[in-house]
Amino acid sequence: MKISVFTIFPEMIDGYTSQSILGRSQDTGLIEITSHDLRDQADGPHRTIDDSPFGGGPGMVLMPEPVFKCVETVKPPRPLILLSPSGRKFDHTTATELSELEGFSLLCGRYEGVDERIRKNLCDDEISIGDYVLAGGELAALVIIEAVARLRQGVLGNEDSKTEESFVEDLLEHPHYTRPAEFRGEEAPSTLLSGNHEEIRRWRKIQSLRTTIRKRPDLIDKRGGLTPEEKELLKDLE
Ligand SMILES: C[S@@+](CC[C@H](N)C(=O)[O-])C[C@H]1O[C@@H](n2cnc3c(N)ncnc32)[C@H](O)[C@@H]1O
Repeated sequence: MKISVFTIFPEMIDGYTSQSILGRSQDTGLIEITSHDLRDQADGPHRTIDDSPFGGGPGMVLMPEPVFKCVETVKPPRPLILLSPSGRKFDHTTATELSELEGFSLLCGRYEGVDERIRKNLCDDEISIGDYVLAGGELAALVIIEAVARLRQGVLGNEDSKTEESFVEDLLEHPHYTRPAEFRGEEAPSTLLSGNHEEIRRWRKIQSLRTTIRKRPDLIDKRGGLTPEEKELLKDLE
């Protein structure tokens, strides 16, 4: 999978993506992440890429000319996704869709954002990572890259990790415990220490359902309610 990132701070992208699972995935050739400096195609001694907004107002706006030129020179993998608070909200479904592509590219805004013609005529999609405003698109790009990369075959050490995680099947994950079995007066659930795999599976499923119902009932609605097997499990509990 090839991922290109367009930014005025390529070192932010390179620093994070050279570490941990993203670094390893690149070393083994599973993923190729390339950052491109939007200033590469900017003119003038200061390689200016921003200007004040028409109509006045605070802040600066990324100009279309250097951004178009940079993207057109690189010819990155498509879709080219603009990172923006106005985009569709990023979630597990979008991460899964992107993980099935051969590649994609991310365009990081800064200041007040980008000239509207960049969004309309250069980008193919627009994604937000949540209802808040960051100073730039770099953190959003990293969030998306990591969430997508870990869904690719071979990126995680244990492939089971991603099939048993939160948001798979629109459920939150069950709690985890590790050594010691008793910590400051609280014991780990005995079922988890029993060695009975069927009982452990059942316990985890019940916990996952309870956590989701309590914390994110919207996820239960999204998946169209509980299956008959799940209703049965919860009934036993009551
Ligand atoms: C300060 S923000 C611009 C906010 C813009 N003036 C607005 O009110 O929507 C600068 C850049 O950060 C990125 N950004 C900020 N918040 C984001 C979010 N929630 N999701 C994705 N990108 C975001 C975008 O690339 C944006 O162009």
